[in-house]
Amino acid sequence: MTSASPSSKKIVLITGCSSGIGFATADVLANAGHTVYATARRTESVAQLETWAQPFAGRAIVEQLDVTDIASIERVVERIQSEQGRIDCVVNNAGYGQAGPVEEVSLDAWRKQFETNLFGVAAVTQRVLPMMRSQRSGRVINVSSVVAHLSLPMMGPYCASKHALDAMSLALRVELAPYHVDVVMIEPGPIETEFRPNVDHNLESKGDENSPYKRLGDAMDSYWNRSFGKTAAKPIAVARAIQKAVESKRPKTRYRITAPAKFAPHLVSHLPDRLLDRIIHWQLKLK
Ligand SMILES: NC(=O)c1ccc[n+]([C@@H]2O[C@H](COP(=O)([O-])OP(=O)(O)OC[C@H]3O[C@@H](n4cnc5c(N)ncnc54)[C@H](OP(=O)(O)O)[C@@H]3O)[C@@H](O)[C@H]2O)c1
Repeated sequence: MTSASPSSKKIVLITGCSSGIGFATADVLANAGHTVYATARRTESVAQLETWAQPFAGRAIVEQLDVTDIASIERVVERIQSEQGRIDCVVNNAGYGQAGPVEEVSLDAWRKQFETNLFGVAAVTQRVLPMMRSQRSGRVINVSSVVAHLSLPMMGPYCASKHALDAMSLALRVELAPYHVDVVMIEPGPIETEFRPNVDHNLESKGDENSPYKRLGDAMDSYWNRSFGKTAAKPIAVARAIQKAVESKRPKTRYRITAPAKFAPHLVSHLPDRLLDRIIHWQLKLK
């Protein structure tokens, strides 16, 4: 693992560190010598992270932060401001997948998806940007997904939230260029984390027995079961890409992790829509 030289040590805020990519990123960055504010929304996650943080002797600071709770964002950023006087990177990682057919997912569930995956990112970013702009340096690192470039059936709310995150990040990149604040997209394909089990947990409906979407829901389930494990990477692969985004003098605008994340966006931009639909039908083994 690369160690950061004293001059390259960064102050990094990360959301959603209770598991998966967020936890792996906090661990990789703290081990590389950076000062990490590792945040989680649940009290029991905060307690677990505090045990993890002990060996880092003050360079891993654990805080409670729910990206849908402005007061918690305010409290954590104020703490960073008073303890460090600066913030170099924010890793907007917190997120989850709301599945279900577009027609059947309740509007409340749609709104919650966007509250976390988009407005949560906007809220955290808005709070750190005044510091970054006045420093004339900083990095906003948004954990997006390959599904920012394509949409999967029965995953409409999640895919829409990541498309929207991509659009917001593109606007932000140009807005922040005069202030030397970079905006980086992290685009993983399938990663072995709590994400997949939580997709099932958040599922309101995959089409009950009488639903017109029952067959599609079953087809998507067996597609995931067949394919996820074949291409999935470990969260450390994403954490290492985030480490590059933190440490590089000139970070890339996008880091794509796993083979599907690398080829799918090209496929989508080059193939006609109806051919893509046919490929999805074929992958799902639907006639
Ligand atoms: N795994 C994949 O295949 C994959 C692929 C592409 C992109 N991603 C993206 O990667 C990011 C991390 O997901 P993961 O795969 O590491 O899944 P994960 O293990 O389920 O981790 C998600 C994290 O987000 C947190 N979170 C959810 N809502 C939050 C909120 N309102 N405030 C603060 N934290 C919140 C979760 O906290 P709790 O423990 O409290 O729920 C958890 O710490 C997400 O943005 C996801 O969309 C994942």
